[in-house]
Amino acid sequence: MTANDNASPPIAPASSHLQRKTALEGQYPPVPSICVVTGGTGFVGNRLVEMLVERGAQKVISFDVVPPPADAWDHPNIEWRVGDITDKAAVDELLSVPGIGCVWHNAAAVGPFHPKPLYYKVNYEGTLNIIESAKKHGINKIVFSSSPSTRFTGEDVDGLREDEMPKLPLKRYMQTYAETKAMADMEISKVCTDEFMTVSVAPHQVYGPRDNLFLPNLLEAAMSGALRIFGNGYNRICFTHVDNYCHGLIIAERALYPDSPALGKFYIVTDGHTHPNGEQYLIFWKILDEAVIAMGFTSLWSKMKLPTLLLMFLAIICDFIGKLLGITVKLNKFNVTVLTMHRWFDIQNAEKDLGFQPIIGFREGWDETKEWFKENWLPKQARSANVIGIASSTQQKIDIQDMSSKKVR
Ligand SMILES: NC(=O)c1ccc[n+]([C@@H]2O[C@H](COP(=O)([O-])OP(=O)(O)OC[C@H]3O[C@@H](n4cnc5c(N)ncnc54)[C@H](O)[C@@H]3O)[C@@H](O)[C@H]2O)c1
Repeated sequence: MTANDNASPPIAPASSHLQRKTALEGQYPPVPSICVVTGGTGFVGNRLVEMLVERGAQKVISFDVVPPPADAWDHPNIEWRVGDITDKAAVDELLSVPGIGCVWHNAAAVGPFHPKPLYYKVNYEGTLNIIESAKKHGINKIVFSSSPSTRFTGEDVDGLREDEMPKLPLKRYMQTYAETKAMADMEISKVCTDEFMTVSVAPHQVYGPRDNLFLPNLLEAAMSGALRIFGNGYNRICFTHVDNYCHGLIIAERALYPDSPALGKFYIVTDGHTHPNGEQYLIFWKILDEAVIAMGFTSLWSKMKLPTLLLMFLAIICDFIGKLLGITVKLNKFNVTVLTMHRWFDIQNAEKDLGFQPIIGFREGWDETKEWFKENWLPKQARSANVIGIASSTQQKIDIQDMSSKKVR
């Protein structure tokens, strides 16, 4: 891939049509010349690396335990460094590069599928390493990828702003992932000053081309015929297109200046008012069903719904069996809760303090995502999915992450 001339910005070759169009037609503020993205080969991180280069970064260092994917952008401004944030020395070496304008700390053990100690090690201790090293090397900006689940209690979240959600620390977290992301979030906020500026930005339910966790797992279950609507199917959820999330993360760096209202704060960015009917939510099972039908599978709405109480009962049994056999079972208490509760936010704080607006509208983003899965995901599927296992692409990544962190002492 050659660097583009001045007339057209460089565009990541793996971008979808919509991502390309949005990158070319949008007017975006400048980005730091030298950027670091931890977790840069993940779903979000990879796109973040690409968008930073598209917006003019001269050097973006991706730092991830998982090597870059086959379609990773081979661009002279990108360094794909393989490394582990739980390895203090490696983090120190990473952040000793002179002139780093901002660290986007995005690496995390994500999802419910890792062994518990790994969440603490990666999400909490890894974040401490990033903070300590950034301070040591005089880097004064960190944008942290947080999660709304840090503030979930299991109660419905039906259109709340961040400041209306429970304050950290919570008495009890719904999963270790959420707990350790919350621990990291609190550290990120605690260290924030006018000289060492930090902010947390969270998405909700990221989707888009190249997603290898959310949609593949649900579509695999739908393909096997096992997926049913949980509860009455009318729970309200908000989504965040991967480009909207990365845009939020990128512009959050611009909001880091002395006395900024964003300093040390937590924001959620979503597809906002581009959700159906100008609301800030969609009906989860209706929208998911669009993807199920687009793949040629039977509509979930033509099948029997599973009552929440029955699901909870089964999930408790599955959690017990999973623990006993040391396997990951998709039907668990956490999944039943999040797939039946309302989970959507009012993003007015991010609009006001970060100047955030979605750059890709939900309808066009979702339609393209369905197309992308039909063309790129569907042909690769063997008809062997079940409710016990998790998507094979997800499992491969998990194995590398788990193995790598075991090596670090
Ligand atoms: N996808 C979502 O819906 C969602 C929702 C809320 C928050 N987030 C946050 O967004 C960020 C990115 O998530 P994602 O969806 O891209 O997940 P992902 O799993 O695709 O990306 C995370 C990346 O971090 C890397 N990583 C894990 N352990 C590491 C280590 N020890 N050292 C270096 N790298 C390591 C992984 O290899 C992976 O590439 C995470 O911080 C996550 O908590 C995502």
